[in-house]
Amino acid sequence: MVQGPPQVTGFDTVLVLDYGAQYGQLIARRVRECRVYSELIPHDASIERIKSYDPKGIILSGGPMSVYVEDAPRVNPELFQLGIPVLGICYGAQGLALELGGTVSRTDLSEFGKTVLTVHKKGLVLESMRPEEQCWMSHRDSITAVPPGFEVLASSPGAPVAAMEDRERGFYAVQFHPEVVHTPKGMDVLRSFLYKACGCEPAFTPEAVVEESIRKIREQVGDAKAILGLSGGVDSSVAALLMHRAIGDRLTCVFVDQGMMRMREAERVVETFSGTFGIPLVAVDASDRFLDKLKGIIEPERKRKIIGEEFIRCFEEEARKLTDAKFLVQGTLYSDVIESGTRQAAKIKSHHNVGGLPEKMDFELVEPLRWLFKDEVRAVGEEMGLPEHIVWRQPFPGPGLAIRIIGEITRERVDILQRADAIVQEEIRKAGLYRELWQCFAILPVIRSVGVQGDERTYGYPIAIRAVTSDDAMSADWARLPYDLLETLASRIINEVPEVNRVVYDVSSKPPSTIEWE
Ligand code: XMP
Repeated sequence: MVQGPPQVTGFDTVLVLDYGAQYGQLIARRVRECRVYSELIPHDASIERIKSYDPKGIILSGGPMSVYVEDAPRVNPELFQLGIPVLGICYGAQGLALELGGTVSRTDLSEFGKTVLTVHKKGLVLESMRPEEQCWMSHRDSITAVPPGFEVLASSPGAPVAAMEDRERGFYAVQFHPEVVHTPKGMDVLRSFLYKACGCEPAFTPEAVVEESIRKIREQVGDAKAILGLSGGVDSSVAALLMHRAIGDRLTCVFVDQGMMRMREAERVVETFSGTFGIPLVAVDASDRFLDKLKGIIEPERKRKIIGEEFIRCFEEEARKLTDAKFLVQGTLYSDVIESGTRQAAKIKSHHNVGGLPEKMDFELVEPLRWLFKDEVRAVGEEMGLPEHIVWRQPFPGPGLAIRIIGEITRERVDILQRADAIVQEEIRKAGLYRELWQCFAILPVIRSVGVQGDERTYGYPIAIRAVTSDDAMSADWARLPYDLLETLASRIINEVPEVNRVVYDVSSKPPSTIEWE
């Protein structure tokens, strides 16, 4: 969890204190969707640190513990002396109740999932609710007596106090989760708290984010020069646009084409950044170099290692030529900042990220997206006129098509896969499914099978199609693509890519499979 100072100032800010909630990040994102700036900070952050944000309100998140478990995190009573409104959610509601003199008990009426909320009084936080509303619950303990000064607003079968408030002092609590979509009026609860209780202005707009980003970059970089490794993905693209807007031609982008991008993608990156936006761009066609190094290599981890190293070598060579650049731009996102240090996932594959930091290089880092969530990065991209195919590009692995050719990589095989994959991209877009899917792509397993086309025996490659839905790539489900679409994909690929005589669809989820085949 990030421990540093506020990422930005100048916006009305509402802090989310994290009690270990599954939904902590989501609360901060939802607050920002209401155009109020929010950061997630640890529940035991010092009062000095909290004050340094000059927050207009505080939200206490949910958490996995019971308030009665030993070592359960307590709500710091000093929070209630700050003179700003506080909203407790789930565990945060119980912690607030306990600290202010209410009672929290184990009622044996735990609730998980969709629940009917009975609204007795709308008060401030439930003002848009009807007498009965659906909400999302996830709790075992319940508030059974409100603290002095509070009134009960709602109850549910398992929570005698499902919402309560002390409007005078500005303290609010809801047992349900307003931040999840299964609470249809949840955003109204947040809006009432943010605008009416805290008096926040909805000023955190994409235009304001662009302005603030530019100000921050200028403050850090001054009149120095910077270089940026452009991959063609949304993060490095938006970082490039912001940097260029901030420091103009003192930014140079380096784009290393390893020859394993999708069809026409490398050209499009050059056209967009150099052509449309006029950003100084060094485009290195390194495809021969990469293919040479990959000759005879079949083992996936070796492929990744070779590509990762070669990429850094190419990038370094170019960076060395730009002797006067002081800064290196990285596309780190706020979710990476929040999660770094808490991530304990086992290493399944060594991920190579395009634009990875060459360790021994002598640059200072500038991270213009460090305070933004992915959806905000997209909104900024749209605001700055980045084309749709970049703003909404699905994740694409750094090693590119190399880890989608299962076997040795040759120029001919890259070419086959590019043509097959282009059909997948085109048809999925045509069917209106591109944004719904986390990823969809083609894979070329280097085996051959027998077919028959026009009375002739063929002995060709299969193409596997993979399409998955996911929220974060940690787990994924295979997408139930319509049969008609699968049929179109199969017949177009077999007709238009003569080297292919068979198409199969991957119906495995993650786990136990992974999204990529290598
Ligand atoms: P897996 O295959 O592990 O992939 O389920 C999870 C997500 O990560 C992407 N991926 C990569 N991204 N460099 C990257 O930048 C890599 O080496 C890499 N390998 C996998 C993959 O596309 C999926 O979204």
